[in-house]
Amino acid sequence: MRYIELGRSGLRVSKIGLGTWQIGSSEWGWNRGYSIDEVIKAIVRSHELGVNFIDTAEIYGGGVSEEVVGRAVREFRDEVVIATKVWPTHATYDGVLKACERSLRRLGVDVIDLYQVHWPNPLIPLSSTMRAMERLVEQGKVRTIGVSNFSAGMLRRAQECLKKEEIVSDQVKYNLVERGVERELLPYCEREGVALIAYSPLAQGFLTARYNVSNRPRDFVRRLNPLFDPSVMRRAGPLMELLREVASRHGAEPGQIALAWLIKRERVVAIPGAKRAEQVESNAGAAELELSEEEWAALSEAASRIDVGLWPLLKTPLRLLGI
Ligand SMILES: NC(=O)c1ccc[n+]([C@@H]2O[C@H](COP(=O)([O-])OP(=O)(O)OC[C@H]3O[C@@H](n4cnc5c(N)ncnc54)[C@H](OP(=O)(O)O)[C@@H]3O)[C@@H](O)[C@H]2O)c1
Repeated sequence: MRYIELGRSGLRVSKIGLGTWQIGSSEWGWNRGYSIDEVIKAIVRSHELGVNFIDTAEIYGGGVSEEVVGRAVREFRDEVVIATKVWPTHATYDGVLKACERSLRRLGVDVIDLYQVHWPNPLIPLSSTMRAMERLVEQGKVRTIGVSNFSAGMLRRAQECLKKEEIVSDQVKYNLVERGVERELLPYCEREGVALIAYSPLAQGFLTARYNVSNRPRDFVRRLNPLFDPSVMRRAGPLMELLREVASRHGAEPGQIALAWLIKRERVVAIPGAKRAEQVESNAGAAELELSEEEWAALSEAASRIDVGLWPLLKTPLRLLGI
């Protein structure tokens, strides 16, 4: 496993972490095909493999994710960096303080290593939210502060609201086919020493090359995701072929290549979600792969040709109906 410092926090995190939105979430098919035993085994296995960074949120599974993560890491709590998030409806000063208490209780820990503002809330002054985050650090309930789904401009503004603390990370959607953050946010993070935590690093399974037009995932999350529209899946054929080809050269899986592509960037940490131990094993293995510059460039080029376009987005209601 490879590790980096999370921003300038002094916290050392693995380049491949573990995302846990899947835990307790019916929208991902919780208790239909995977359940608590599998995800606990996955968390324990990730620890054995050197994955020390676990991401959860108060919203995941209505708190089930935090409870299960807390339970699974009890024996090795001091060896992992636990990140959780406050939901935007709790972003008032008092709301943040109370949400943090609930998260601490569900996780069964004394301190949250990284506490993140899950999404900006335009209805609540950012300064109130950030003051509460700083108060939590003063109280020793939170070690470091992060944000999520913040643009470069918002990240700068959030930092200006803090008196003493630094924002150590921004958690955003980033993968081979969804690269909007490369325009402004990633250069900003690289310049300012902020970690970019890449969520949906496998594009929700799209980049594992396991799915195709006649075998699409049926859960709610991926019916919403326009990448799984048949028209996009058809256009992705050449990219999937290239992922398979590079993978076979490295004795790896296509999804591992997609993760290796992402974490080649120094400031980027990926947090793939996993439902079972085999997935964690494969994802952790991506940290051992080193893509050549040519492979990296060829993948970037092939992926940039996949433009989702407007139609798959407009068709979302039809996909939700299973059409
Ligand atoms: N801050 C935010 O707003 C935000 C938003 C989204 C996610 N997140 C965080 O980021 C994490 C990851 O994002 P994500 O869950 O959206 O997408 P992801 O990590 O790109 O995809 C996860 C899915 O890919 C499949 N998968 C994972 N590893 C695999 C492997 N080795 N081989 C084959 N398939 C594999 C699994 O689904 P199947 O097996 O069913 O195909 C899994 O549920 C989340 O768990 C959450 O912690 C944060």
